[in-house]
Amino acid sequence: MIQQFLRDTKVDVPVVCGPMYPGSNPELVAAVSEAGGLGVVQPVTMTYAYQHDFREGLRLIKQLTNKPFGVNFTLLAGNKRYEKRLHEWMEISIEEGTSFFLTSLGNPKWVVERAHANGIVVYHDVTNRKFAEKAAKAGVDGLNCVNHRAGGQTGELSAEDLYHSLHDLGLPLVCAGGVSDENEFLKMLDLGYAAVQMGTRFLATEECQIPDDYKQGIVRSEEKDIVWTNKLAGTTSSVIRTPDIEKGGLMVNPIFGFLLRQRSTKKLMRTLLLLRSIRTHKKVVQKPGYGQIWQAGKGVGQIHAIEPAGAIVNRFQRALEAHKPDESR
Ligand SMILES: Cc1cc2nc3c(=O)[nH]c(=O)nc-3n(C[C@H](O)[C@H](O)[C@H](O)COP(=O)(O)O)c2cc1C
Repeated sequence: MIQQFLRDTKVDVPVVCGPMYPGSNPELVAAVSEAGGLGVVQPVTMTYAYQHDFREGLRLIKQLTNKPFGVNFTLLAGNKRYEKRLHEWMEISIEEGTSFFLTSLGNPKWVVERAHANGIVVYHDVTNRKFAEKAAKAGVDGLNCVNHRAGGQTGELSAEDLYHSLHDLGLPLVCAGGVSDENEFLKMLDLGYAAVQMGTRFLATEECQIPDDYKQGIVRSEEKDIVWTNKLAGTTSSVIRTPDIEKGGLMVNPIFGFLLRQRSTKKLMRTLLLLRSIRTHKKVVQKPGYGQIWQAGKGVGQIHAIEPAGAIVNRFQRALEAHKPDESR
């Protein structure tokens, strides 16, 4: 399946820099792709956190590398203005020659139809069997399996359980969560994953434009310093336990909690929390010292230095070559 992933994405190394709000500035996406991995654009990061016109942002990446990169689409429905932007971003991505789409949430069927008609491959984020079956039925080419060690919004299952629950679907499975060094990378490939998607590791890089104290916080942290909060998106997100996180508490207040559990108000509450968190994170990246609300996953313990993104990809490539010279995998 590694070979299928490499064919699908047209990259050399089965390493993805996952879309991150607010970590995926275009320079980071380009650096990962240039080194032979797959950088993935997060449109809200591109246009809102870093204020690029979307097409110009894609063109900036294309100036920095002529290698393939992907674009992530979060398929949130119900907000007409967002849906319009989503369609615009997709059409621009097609026009600018993107070859890989990564979808999150929702039903990716309409994206698959539009993408396949243009020779674009689609992988979809999943956290369990139910979502994976829905995505497979929609015709996606691969599954990005988000586990419970991931940074950002976490999954529910371990990488091992997720793999065993999904491998019979016959699609390439990408492991997203908890991998930040070569040992974990090789372990996940040995388990059967076709590739690894990393977020936290790529935050602590020279090209990532989050503030330096956030990067240092990742380098300093151990797995035990990662805690879960539902205050960022209404679902579980993992963050570093900083004084600011402790001060604000990890869980929403009981009234919000009640509204988050009700079918009729759950969606609205999640949207409100998400919008607030998008604004907060923009300030975190644009105003150094604003607040230590630092999302990161449990792979922090494997990160010991801020490095160039390309050096990480190169190291993983060398480790894979030394581990499995057999190209048939
Ligand atoms: C700060 C941060 C923000 C993230 N934002 C997004 C996002 O906007 N959309 C998305 O699909 N995934 C997002 N993710 C998840 C990553 O794309 C990736 O799947 C995850 O980081 C992998 O786990 P790891 O952090 O343990 O490497 C985010 C992760 C982090 C750490």
